[in-house]
Amino acid sequence: MPDLAVTLNRLHLANPVLVASGTFGYAREMAGFVPLARLGGIIPKTITPLPRIGNPPPRTVETASGLLNSIGLDNDGLDAFIEKHLDYLLGLGTAVIANIAGHDRDEFLRMAERLGRCQGLAGLELNISCPNVSGGVDFGVDPEMTASVVRGVREVCGLPLVAKLTPNVTDITAIAQAAAQAGADAVTIANTFQGMSIDWRQRRPILGNVVGGLSGPAIKPIVLRMVWQVARKVPVPIIAVGGIDGIDDVLEYLVAGASAVQIGTANFYNPSLAGMLIDQLDQALASAGCQNVREIVGTLQIPQR
Ligand SMILES: Cc1cc2nc3c(=O)[nH]c(=O)nc-3n(C[C@H](O)[C@H](O)[C@H](O)COP(=O)(O)O)c2cc1C
Repeated sequence: MPDLAVTLNRLHLANPVLVASGTFGYAREMAGFVPLARLGGIIPKTITPLPRIGNPPPRTVETASGLLNSIGLDNDGLDAFIEKHLDYLLGLGTAVIANIAGHDRDEFLRMAERLGRCQGLAGLELNISCPNVSGGVDFGVDPEMTASVVRGVREVCGLPLVAKLTPNVTDITAIAQAAAQAGADAVTIANTFQGMSIDWRQRRPILGNVVGGLSGPAIKPIVLRMVWQVARKVPVPIIAVGGIDGIDDVLEYLVAGASAVQIGTANFYNPSLAGMLIDQLDQALASAGCQNVREIVGTLQIPQR
């Protein structure tokens, strides 16, 4: 069988299939559906310094081939994560990458410093891209703010760092470049796309927060384009996330230049998918004649005209 291990600078994963933040709870909920130890990695829900109740309901609505959510980083805060969830997660036998969001740079740094002292985490994903936090600064829309958070975290925390980028920008390559130069080991492309949904009969927005983030198969072609653009321009490993629903989606992202992928929205309607994709990846790579998964990364060929 092909070797599935991937190395993204300092981040080492047994295979390239991870589960995305906010779509897999703290993994307990999913234990009956997926052999958790088989996953390439688990990224639990974003942690903020203090508990947050999130946005008013309704917080999700289905759209054509997608899901719109405005959860708003509902979580119990950093203390509760460390006390209630971390030991369980670290006992699962797979890489655990904590995902954090701060309102300002200092909050990112303080959380990173504390999590860096917790033994056993494989890495830290910086959510500089949540579209649902009113009043929060969207660091990921600006190269300088992105660099400042990544550089600061790198100085106070020894864990491998992944910057999770927002797709709600004109040129994502500039943001990826800034993250890489500031010391990110990898970038995750991407968080959700800002969108909204309206009940026109009532003349009202459907989401309690009015706007939300779009995910699911609807966004895949756009994220695929972004992954390819970043892979061509920026020498940083990419973790692709957006609309993965089957093994062909995984391989498309790898061929476009991603070194690993995350499964997000599909966990809600097919909670066994991530485990199945790892088995299917083995077979797909073997039938493509690959000895290891690295061989297929970035192999897109553009026909010359
Ligand atoms: C209900 C829901 C909650 C999410 N919560 C988070 C979160 O807390 N932190 C984060 O970084 N991304 C969060 N995301 C974004 C996903 O991790 C992922 O980047 C995005 O949904 C695109 O992937 P997908 O199309 O496979 O879902 C959330 C997505 C959904 C659908």
